[in-house]
This record gives sequence, structure tokens and C-alpha cells, in this order.
Amino acid sequence: NSLLKCISKSTAEHPKTISAILHAQFVNNDSYTQVLRSLIRNRRFNTSATHKPTIIITPTRESHVSAAITCSKSLGRLLKIRSGGHDYDGLSYVSHVPFFMLDLFNFRSIDVDIATETAWVQSGAMLGELYYRIWEKSNLHGFPAGVCPTVGVGGHLSGGGYGNLLRKYGLSVDHIIDARIVDVQGRVLDRESMGEDLFWAIRGGGGGSFGVILSFKVRLVRVPAKVTVFRVDKSRDLEENMTEAVHKWLKIADKLDNNLFIRLHLQPVSSRGGKTVRASFIAEYLGDADSLVSILDKDFPELGLTRANCTEMRWIESVSYWHQYTFGTPNEMLLDRNLGGTVDFLKRKSDYIRTPISKRGLESLWEKMLETGEIGLVLNPYGGRMSEIAASDTPMPHRAGNICKIQYQANWTKESSEKEAQNINGIRELYKFMKQFVSKSPRGAYLNYRDVDIGINHHGENSYKEGKVYGRKYFMDNFDRLVKVKTAVDPDNFFRNEQSIPTLPS
Ligand code: FDA
Repeated sequence: NSLLKCISKSTAEHPKTISAILHAQFVNNDSYTQVLRSLIRNRRFNTSATHKPTIIITPTRESHVSAAITCSKSLGRLLKIRSGGHDYDGLSYVSHVPFFMLDLFNFRSIDVDIATETAWVQSGAMLGELYYRIWEKSNLHGFPAGVCPTVGVGGHLSGGGYGNLLRKYGLSVDHIIDARIVDVQGRVLDRESMGEDLFWAIRGGGGGSFGVILSFKVRLVRVPAKVTVFRVDKSRDLEENMTEAVHKWLKIADKLDNNLFIRLHLQPVSSRGGKTVRASFIAEYLGDADSLVSILDKDFPELGLTRANCTEMRWIESVSYWHQYTFGTPNEMLLDRNLGGTVDFLKRKSDYIRTPISKRGLESLWEKMLETGEIGLVLNPYGGRMSEIAASDTPMPHRAGNICKIQYQANWTKESSEKEAQNINGIRELYKFMKQFVSKSPRGAYLNYRDVDIGINHHGENSYKEGKVYGRKYFMDNFDRLVKVKTAVDPDNFFRNEQSIPTLPS
């Protein structure tokens, strides 16, 4: 009732209208449960033990967002912000202290302007919707962002954002040219009124620390009429020179033609003899199959790529291909918010590799992967455009000098505490083992691969110190600039979560 009255007063809208955007636990349970669950992308945080918001606010106007902020503040409640709900550790919709949640799913309009090669996209839109709306207007334009169509624009673009156009065009944040944000005083600001420091901070410094981002204006990028994709699998037990090929990949993946992105997915799998490790090389090339084959004949003959492995398609079709590695999925799939409704239990971690791992090192890694169970590693190559952008241009500092970023993946489909413990222990053990091969001082991590294992903040008197532990891993030398911006725009630390940017100690 207090929240209802406050929002109604501050927006000058009738309480009945406002009650339609409030969903309270135990009051209107049906809509509450439906809204809460609809965007949970990690089933670990959809159990009876999960700490849930007391009230979910689903604004339909900017004034609702402003009122949600000022009213949560005056009622002394934490406000969590959710756009697409893909945070790997659920920080947009879980908290151990009582909280309200602002869910931006109604804010999802997309306005593409091909004449200026730009688009305004609201935070609650999904990446798939953005790609689809661009394609509706031009099949020669795209946007460099994640490969999963259901990822939300709000969290993804404020946390970095990478996909298979990374080597050619860099990160999503490298293409943001304006934004609209609601600050802690409830003011709606654009690039000009927020100033360059705050505008810098929200392009990779993470959502949830500085305000509620309503929308971003992005620069589109050009894609050719035809792109080529392939997937080549090699298995350790089948005499397929897998170790040779992985070793070579580590030497050249960041140096290949910028139009080429070859992801390497390493996964323990069942085999006739028991268990083995499989290496899948999955690629997107901005060009035709013949030129791709000739590049790899020269630079990566160990892969053994042939024309028969390659499929040419339009860029938009490759977006669907990357989601499931199957051809011919209708592009309308990109508008499906549920993607068949499959949601797994997940845990993710990240690392960066700066020097190639020796063949002996790789052999020891295969043994460790077999020992730790079902944990997969996804290696995404850097180089290209990533090496040309200075580490301080945006808060995301991991640029030149990195061969690739690793995502550690644990997925399971059935609720079981035993399985959960096995997977969480397995992923932590593999991460520990990998210490010898990855970046050091600090050991880097990618913010959008949220991992609360690397440190959390209790927002007490040690807040800066605690923030520095995870902050240096995510942002390296950019951490202190982020702290300065945070202290200037939100000195009382209203916008906070378990890994947000702290203010400077007073
Ligand atoms: P969510 O709504 O959970 O928000 C994430 C964080 O941002 C939270 O802290 C939240 O409070 C904050 N936030 C969200 N909206 C905000 C807003 N409007 N204003 C202020 N703060 C806001 N990443 C990648 O780079 N490339 C990839 O290919 C993929 N693929 C991928 C697939 C799948 C299945 C998952 C689950 C995740 C990925 N990711 C990824 C990671 C993804 O980029 C990351 O989780 C993003 O933060 C998700 O953004 P959402 O808006 O969906 O998340």
C-alpha cells in the first residue's frame, strides 16, 4: 500500500492504474509468479528456497521508473533491475535482503534507421528482436552482440556484450552512441545531460550500479550478403590430431583474418571406450566458402576444413544457426521469448588466456576434464578489432594481448542437490587447475559471465575493499574511475547488488 500510494502520488496517476503495474507476493500471486518466472534463465534460482522480491514493478512509462526509484528509496527498500534475466548468478532477481524488483519487459521498442545506420533499442528488448528488426530493414546490416537471442539488451549492453562479430567489430559497447537513463533522483538523462563520465561507465561498467538504463542508441555495422558457417568436431580417442589442432588454434585464432571467428568448444563426452574429450571448432566467416577454405588451407591445415563442411547463408540466418547449430530455422524464432521454454540449471566462470598452452599442458587438461565430470570450456578468440581499442576506452579492459576468453560451463537439467554439488565443485576445481595457464595479477574475468565466487560486496564499511576484489578482475585499472563516477552520481549507494561498483570510502 505504501508503494502504491507513493507511486500514484509521484506520477499523479490513479491508484487503480498503478496497481496494474505492481505484483505482490501473496497478494496477486498469479501475476507475481508468472512475471517472476517468465525471465528466470537459471533454474538454480527458481526454487522454493530462492529469496524472491516482495513486489515486482512492471513500468509502462518512464515516469513509473522514476517513481519506482524515488519511492523504493523513501521506503528504504533495495531495488533490483531486470531486463532479460540472463544474469548467470541471478543478481537481477535474487537478494538475501528484502527487495523490490523493477522488471523492464514492457520497455522493448526498437527503432532502426538505415539512413543513419543507427537504432534506438529499449532495455527490455532481446538481442534476437534487435537482430530481426535490423534484418527487416536491411540484410546488409547487423549488430555485434551475443549469440543467444533471448539475452536482454539492458544487462548485455551495460556489461560489455560480445558475439561472433567480435574480431571484426569489437564489443557491443564499442557501438553505443547515446543512452537514456533514470538516475537516483528520478531524472531522465541522455548522453548530453548525463555527461561523458557516466556515459563511459554504463558502457561496460555493469547495469545496476549507476541508474536504470531505459534505452541505448547503437551504431549498426555492415555485414556481407553472404556469410559462411562451419562446425568441425575432433575427438581425442579417434586419432583426429585433436591436441595438435587445439594447440595450433591457440597460436593463431587471434591472428587470423578479422572476418573470421572460430570458437572452440571443449567438452567431455561419452565414447565407445567410456569417456573422452571432444573439440568442436564452430565458425562464422564474413565472406564466401571458397575464400574461407583457402584461408584455412594456408593458416590452419590441421583443421582439415573442406568445402563440404561449409554452409553459406545470410547473416540473419547465421544468428539462428549459432543458437542451435542447425540450418533452416525460421528467422521468426528470434522473436520467441521462451525459445521452447527450455531452462537449465547453470554455473559459469571465466578466464583469459594470454599465452598458448603447450601440448603437454593440453594433455593434462584433457585428463583433468575427464576427472572433473561434465564441465565444458568455450574458448572465444580475441585479436582483430579488440586489439585496436584501448583498455581504457570503455570499462571493459580485456583487449590487446589476449588470445581468447574462456567460459567454464556446467549445465544440468534435473533438480538434484547431489548433481548441483558435483557440478559446482567440478567447475571450481577445473578453474583452480587452469590457474597455471591463464591471466594473472589480476586473474581477469568477464562481467557478463557473472561469477559470485570471485567476491561479493556486503556494502558495509569494507565496501570499497570488497569491491576491489572482484572489480579489479572485471575492470582492472578502470575500477577506480568507475568508483569515482559511482561516488559522484550515487553517493548513498542506492543502486547496488552483490557485485556492484562501491563508492569511495568517506
Ligand atoms: P539481467 O536482466 O539478469 O541483468 C543483468 C545485470 O544487469 C543485473 O545486474 C541487472 O540488475 C542489470 N541490469 C539489467 N537491466 C538493466 C537496466 N535496464 N538498467 C540497469 N541495470 C540493468 N554474454 C555475451 O557477452 N555473449 C553471449 O553470447 C552471451 N550468451 C548468453 C547466453 C545465455 C543463455 C545466458 C544466460 C547468458 C549469456 N550471456 C552472453 C551473458 C549475458 O550477456 C549477461 O548475463 C547479461 O548481463 C544479460 O543481460 P540481461 O538483461 O538478460 O540480464
